[in-house]
Amino acid sequence: MSENLIIFNARIVTPTGTSARKGAEMGQLRIIENGTVEVTKGIITYVGESRGEDRDGYYQHYWHYNARGHCLLPGFVDSHTHFVFGGERSEEFSWRLKGESYMSIMEHGGGIASTVKATRQMNFLKLRSAAEGFLKKMSAMGVTTVEGKSGYGLDRETELLQLKIMRSLNNDEHKRIDIVSTFLGAHALPEEYKGRGDEYIDFLIREMLPVIRENELAECCDVFCEQGVFSVEQSRRLLREAKEQGFLLKLHADEIVSFGGAELAAELGALSADHLLQASDAGIRAMADAGVVATLLPLTAFALKEPYARGREMIDAGCAVALATDLNPGSCFSGSIPLTIALACIYMKLSIEETITALTLNGAAALHRADRIGSIEVGKQGDFVILNSDNYHILPYYVGMNCVIMTIKGGMLYPV
Ligand code: NIG
Ligand code: FE
Repeated sequence: MSENLIIFNARIVTPTGTSARKGAEMGQLRIIENGTVEVTKGIITYVGESRGEDRDGYYQHYWHYNARGHCLLPGFVDSHTHFVFGGERSEEFSWRLKGESYMSIMEHGGGIASTVKATRQMNFLKLRSAAEGFLKKMSAMGVTTVEGKSGYGLDRETELLQLKIMRSLNNDEHKRIDIVSTFLGAHALPEEYKGRGDEYIDFLIREMLPVIRENELAECCDVFCEQGVFSVEQSRRLLREAKEQGFLLKLHADEIVSFGGAELAAELGALSADHLLQASDAGIRAMADAGVVATLLPLTAFALKEPYARGREMIDAGCAVALATDLNPGSCFSGSIPLTIALACIYMKLSIEETITALTLNGAAALHRADRIGSIEVGKQGDFVILNSDNYHILPYYVGMNCVIMTIKGGMLYPV
């Protein structure tokens, strides 16, 4: 659904441009005091100084909304999540509290495999309604576009089911969030392929990629490139083939050990490399040179008690950094945008302005959508958030608390 809407008396705060901002550019925001945005059929048709609008209500085919001086930002883009899954893993979380590591739980048949078991037992409606519940929570925190991954089926039927659920949610005319789907068949090795990783990659290449492309069920292909999961060589083979078949590429890279994932992302011209807690200096330089978006997921580092990715150094090295939540049932059962912002500022040493760019325009670039979303500019979608203040510095100050009072999707107002 889309609307004709004029928001006036807003403090507009936005990055600008149609591609990712890199390095020093990330901190540069455009600020318009007493600003107006006009949205026509869901698309921004005016951004600038107010033009004398002064009353709430419906006038000349447009709703008029007085922002009362509050900050108006582009809608947040959460460019890395796994929000379609069955079951939960609170037990595993309690083992981690007692000192067991994420990877050792995975090696003993828990972790992703346990969610795969639960997801394979769910039907379309149950999975869809659980996923829809997450979307509602995200929207209330200002998210207007989300990326969602498959990867909890690891067989033909359930992988396709996850992707079909995302398509169905994205086709809902009352949706508050656009969904970009990613195929993550290479999330873990399923039980049936134990000891046969290369054959599983063959299966993904021959039997999954073509049917997904044919049915336009995913735009991106991702892989968990990690010691003990998929090797650099296996990841390269899958992603090269995916690229050949028209997928955009993403990687779970250098999360637990420094493994060459950032370098591989640069070599393949991936859209983004994600996690990067252990990215090497050479990997950071390669991403900066190749224009790979470095997508950082501080909630995961927090929940796993791992060191944070070197966000400050990546920006200083000229990378385009995006931030996302990584919402998933295992390593990070949180989609908290407010906590993501606070952790990025406190522990990764991003400025507040850089954090805004990372969650808007650079998130959009990580989804190949920087020409359509991620900033408040004529021609882009009318997706915004309104904050509870005229000062955007409240974003990290509200540690883990929501300061969004209105999410606007395609010109439709959704009060929080
Ligand atoms: O991004 N690291 C791999 N995949 C997810 C976790 C998935 C899970 O534990 O269920 C992540 O952290
Ligand atoms: Fe992830």
